[in-house]
Formats: sequence, C-alpha cells, structure tokens
Amino acid sequence: MSRKKFIAGNWKMNTTVEEAVALAKGVVEAVGGVSDVDVAVCPPYTNLSAVSQAIKGSNVKLGAQDVHWEAKGAFTGKVSCDMLKSVGVTYVIIGHSEQRQYFGETNGTVNKKTKAVLAAGLLPIVCVGETLDERNGGKMDAVIDGQTRGAFEGISASDAAKCTIAYEPVWAIGTGVTATPEQANEAHVFIRNILVSLYGKDTADKMRIQYGGSMKPDNAKGLLALSDIDGGLIGGAALKPADFAGIVQPK
Ligand code: PGA
Repeated sequence: MSRKKFIAGNWKMNTTVEEAVALAKGVVEAVGGVSDVDVAVCPPYTNLSAVSQAIKGSNVKLGAQDVHWEAKGAFTGKVSCDMLKSVGVTYVIIGHSEQRQYFGETNGTVNKKTKAVLAAGLLPIVCVGETLDERNGGKMDAVIDGQTRGAFEGISASDAAKCTIAYEPVWAIGTGVTATPEQANEAHVFIRNILVSLYGKDTADKMRIQYGGSMKPDNAKGLLALSDIDGGLIGGAALKPADFAGIVQPK
C-alpha cells in the first residue's frame, strides 16, 4: 500500500501577522510546487487569513492548530469549524500533547473535535503519543491504545479514512531527542494494528500516520523511509523555510 506522504508544519504560538506572511511566502517559494507530497502549514488563528492569501495558488494547504466542537455561541476564546472553513482551512490538528498537557484536552474532547471537524468537511490530524514516564513505566501501549480508540469512538470507517494520525512521543517534542526510526516505526505499526482492529485492513491502510518530535532535515529521510511512517508533523523546523523544505524533500 503506498500512501502519499504528508508533511505539516505546526507553527505553535509563533509569528506575528508579518512574520507569518514572510514564512508562508518562504515555504511557497521552497515547496509550493511540490505535488508528490502533501504539504500544509498551521499558523496561529490570528494569522490564518493572511497565510491563506499568501499560499493561494500554490500546493501548500492551510491547517489550524485546534478547534472547538460547538458550532457557535457563548464559548469565549474559542473558534468553530465554520470559522476555520471561512478563512480557507483544510486541516485541523486535534489533541496535540501541549493541548492535553496544559489545556485540559482529554480523549473525550479529542473525539468531539474529530467528529465536528469531519462533519464540517475538514480533515483532522489527530495527535497521540506517550510521555517519558508512561514509556518508562511500561504504559506506552495502553496510553496509545486509549488515545487512538478514544479519538475514533463512534466514527465510521469512511470518515476515519479521511483522518491523519500524528504519533508524537511527548519526550521527543521540542527536546532535540528524536525517536529512533525503529522506535517510531514500531509505534506506527502498533497504531496501524489498532486501526485494523477498528476498521479493517483496507481502511487502516489508507490512513496516514505522521511522526512528530524533533524531526529535522537530517533525520527526516531515515524516518520517512520506514513502512508505516507516512509523513511528519513538524514544530521547530517548520519555522524556517529551508529546514521545512529539507523535510518535505529530504536529501
Ligand atoms: P517539534 O514539535 O518538531 O518542535 O519537536 C513537533 C510538534 O509538537 O508537533
């Protein structure tokens, strides 16, 4: 089964509007014509509109870093799927470990967000991954199993097929420590097998599983060469066009 690779830049809480436009233009210049890899950038909410304009006409797609599951109303500080659609968003990151760690995200809210995003015709990037304590305590499989099954509860196979999963071991995010390609691929195969048990092999084979956690131009090739690593969710290295391009097209 060959899955088209998918590289998404998660800009996190970085960039003013001006910086975001400059970065987006740099990304378009470097990889805007690439068609054999799907590419997306996920700026902060405040910069979605401007980046949407800056990437227009290129192959680079727009993603958001979070969403609220409700359609509208008294939810101060939150943004809905329709609002994201109205500025040209295609992908939505859901359940990032920083959301889980600092902002009370649970497997239950990840599930609600995933359903809302799919219902709106947007494409979820669902993040899962264990902390160092969980890995060292032998709980890694149980944590990833719970996060994956929790995210997809009540979601049909045809909707699941539209989703990307990002496996991001928390201990590798922003730390400079990358999972070895073997460690990462093992986790990806484990996740794929959960998807097989939920949806059958055909659907599971269609779903892309990105790796995230200190992915850079110099380790991207090794990671992306493995059977079940279908792309990357890139933090730090997504903030420099040359680094991001070196992951989209690793040498
Ligand atoms: P990193 O972040 O590439 O800076 O480790 C990845 C992520 O958190 O999505």
